[in-house]
Amino acid sequence: MFQNLARPTVDAIIALMAQVNADERTNKIDLSVGIYKDDKGNTPVMKSVREAEDRLHTSQDTKKYVGLTGDPLFNQEMTKLVLGDQQDLSLTASAQAPGGSGALRLLSELIYAAKPDATVWLSDPTWPNHNSLLGSVGLNIEIYPYFNYDTQEVRFDELCAALSKAKKDDVVVLHGCCHNPTGRDMSLDQWTKLGQFMSEKGLIPLIDLAYLGFGDGLEEDVQGLKALIKQVPTSLLAVSCSKNFGVYRDRVGCSIVLTDSVDIAQTCQGHLGAIARRIYSMPPDHGAAVVRTILCDDALKNMWKEELSEMRERVNGLRAAFAKQLRDLTGTTKWDFIANQRGMFTLLGLTDEEIAKLRNDHAIYVVKGGRINVAGLQQSDIENISKALIAVTS
Ligand code: LMR
Repeated sequence: MFQNLARPTVDAIIALMAQVNADERTNKIDLSVGIYKDDKGNTPVMKSVREAEDRLHTSQDTKKYVGLTGDPLFNQEMTKLVLGDQQDLSLTASAQAPGGSGALRLLSELIYAAKPDATVWLSDPTWPNHNSLLGSVGLNIEIYPYFNYDTQEVRFDELCAALSKAKKDDVVVLHGCCHNPTGRDMSLDQWTKLGQFMSEKGLIPLIDLAYLGFGDGLEEDVQGLKALIKQVPTSLLAVSCSKNFGVYRDRVGCSIVLTDSVDIAQTCQGHLGAIARRIYSMPPDHGAAVVRTILCDDALKNMWKEELSEMRERVNGLRAAFAKQLRDLTGTTKWDFIANQRGMFTLLGLTDEEIAKLRNDHAIYVVKGGRINVAGLQQSDIENISKALIAVTS
């Protein structure tokens, strides 16, 4: 049966993770996959998560099924976390999903069920898995320009020019905050203008929110997306808890549909359940139960917010230190952009050859294009990484 099956194309980030693991050099530096590391190089279980797990272990008295769209209380708390306590929940549909990727997949299937000929527009560049996750459902994929490598700015006018070719009900994937891989988000003014533009053209935003709280704060990070979605009748959101709750392997995410009609919301809710049933039946519970426990308890929620702030401040501090080190070594402001970007990543705009030199000569691993996981940097490595970067780009 499988004799003629071609070898699969492996996702660039996953392939790199395997390469890092296989490298036996003790001085290797892994700046590939987006995980947060503390100043000892560990990715510890957050204290609020540990406490919620302890509570669950003593209080949970059954492992029976929860349901196709998971725990309604988790979904409600996630919706409020993103859209605010004032959000009218009767206008939303939501489903607990296996990670942000699972949430994206559920929404892609929902789009396909409603409009199989819809085109999904992805930013150039974007997270490499977007194309596979959304395209393999059967949706057409188009690309819109997003990032200017020379100016380090969003190519907003070109973005709008490209999207002016989109048809009504086409879907535009936007990174809610902390754009992956560029670390460059739209300004509030651009989010607002884009909302107006999308409303006029009848386009649907699909907002991938994987780094909520890693940019400038929980409230600040949703300002832009809120300015956009209040102008359009229908919005889709795929929210991940992997990074901000540090529950990567537990696979916790939430799909949210926001509409202007209770009836449409209910129809979408039914479809989200039916889609889950046919692809994996029901989402994993443990991580979502942990997140729900945190969000439903004021003391735990405050503890989590403090831990999240610490992570964010550490990453922003590393950005500043990295940019300063490069400024001191080069005597130029060429790399200052690193300090001004937000989220886990910065995109250095390296060629394949430069990336290979970093890997082969310096045991430093970065993703294609020169994306580095700033959240995985160690202060003590910054000088060596900076010198290596200067060496391979000179
Ligand atoms: C990343 O971009 O490194 C993360 O979103 C992890 C992943 O699954 O690719």
